[in-house]
Formats: sequence, structure tokens, C-alpha cells
Amino acid sequence: MARYGGPARGVDTKSSSTDMVSEADREAERAIVELLRAERPDDGLIGEEGADESSASGRNWVIDPLDGTTNYLYGCPAWCVSVALEDREGGLAGVVHDPVGRETFVAERGGGARLNGEPIHVSEASELATALIGTGFGYEPAVRAGQADIVRRLLPQVRDIRRAGAAALDLCFVAAGRLDGYYERGVHHWDYAAGALVVREAGGEVVELEGGRFGVAAGPAGLVRRLAELVRE
Ligand code: IPD
Repeated sequence: MARYGGPARGVDTKSSSTDMVSEADREAERAIVELLRAERPDDGLIGEEGADESSASGRNWVIDPLDGTTNYLYGCPAWCVSVALEDREGGLAGVVHDPVGRETFVAERGGGARLNGEPIHVSEASELATALIGTGFGYEPAVRAGQADIVRRLLPQVRDIRRAGAAALDLCFVAAGRLDGYYERGVHHWDYAAGALVVREAGGEVVELEGGRFGVAAGPAGLVRRLAELVRE
């Protein structure tokens, strides 16, 4: 937050010229990793900005220190910090924190999902034709071309499509019923690990498309299967 809105420092690009990373991303990851190493020395860590430590406990922390980096660097208030804890069965705990909106989404396996302490629930949407759907786009031109094809097919079949720019927040918005569904091809594990648990614990479903690394679709059970089918086509 101290750096948000100020001059961007240490900005480099990663997978393509559109994929930015800044000193704020790196420092946020350093801070989270330092804390987790001290508190949970036996757990593994994987972070978007390079953290990669194997686990002696069977538990792993999956960290996106700044999801929505482009928004952050443009002073657009849709970015967050996403941290998940996973064990052999999948997501165990997840937190997505939006410091600008002062909203914290949390979930623990079997314990429900909450926003600033209040229980949240996915919408009751079951018809795609009246569903508000969120999505996102990757940074590689070839991936984007495929994503554009999906939007072209989907847009006439849904209420509307939103692209806010932070996958973890998109998922939490599904969990809170602010979006009916969300999908994205080419998304990374750290983008959705915490948000997916928040959706599941908010009564929704998350379908991993082609093994997870290649995408997710999320929403109420009645909607998500059809959404996943359309995205897979
Ligand atoms: C990105 C955002 C974006 C999504 C991209 C992600 P980053 O994460 O979540 O909404 O469409 O696929 O890579 O780069 O801002 O951490």
C-alpha cells in the first residue's frame, strides 16, 4: 500500500512485454516468505515471483504476492494478495486480501467462506443466458488469441462479461455472488489456489480444465458445468 499510487519502481517484464513485475511484487513475496519460513519451517512454498521450497510436512503455501499487477501499476484499485495452504487433499486454507477496498476473503476446508468475518455464498444462477461472467487474459499473444475466440463465442450467450484484472478477486467475487461465474484458460496455480477454496467453501464448484495448469471455471453447480463445456469447446 505504501507504494501504491506512487512512481512505479523496479518494473521489469516477464513472459512477454505486457507481463510486468515490480519491486512491490518482489517485496510483498519476500515479506510473506520470511513470515512463513519463521512460523512454518517444515512447509513448502511456491510463489509467483520465484519462491520454491519443498515441503517436509506435506503442506505447501501457494503465494501470489500481488495479483493484478497491471492494475496496481496503473493506480487502478483491483489488486490483492492471495495466499493458500494446501495439503495432499488440496486447499486447506485460503486468504485473498484487497487492501484498497479493505476486504478480506477467507476460507478453510469444511469451515465455510467469509468476507470481513461475514459468511458469503455464491449466487443461485443456473442459466448462462442471464449470468454475469468474469474472465481474464494471459500475457502471451498466442494464448490471448485463443482467449479472444472463447469470448467471441461466449459473449452472445451470457448476460455480460467482466475483465477486472485480478483472478483471485474474480473468484472471490463469484464466492460473494458479485459475479455468477468465472473462467480463465492459461491461469497459474498461484492465481486461483486461494480463490478456488473460497468459492468451494461459499457453496460453489471449481472445475479444473485439462489438469488445472490450463484453466479453471467456477460458479454455482448448476452453471459451472455448462460454462466449462463452452470454454472447453
Ligand atoms: C494476472 C491476473 C489477471 C489474469 C492473469 C494473471 P498477475 O495475475 O490475475 O487477471 O487474467 O492470467 O496472470 O500477473 O497480475 O499476478
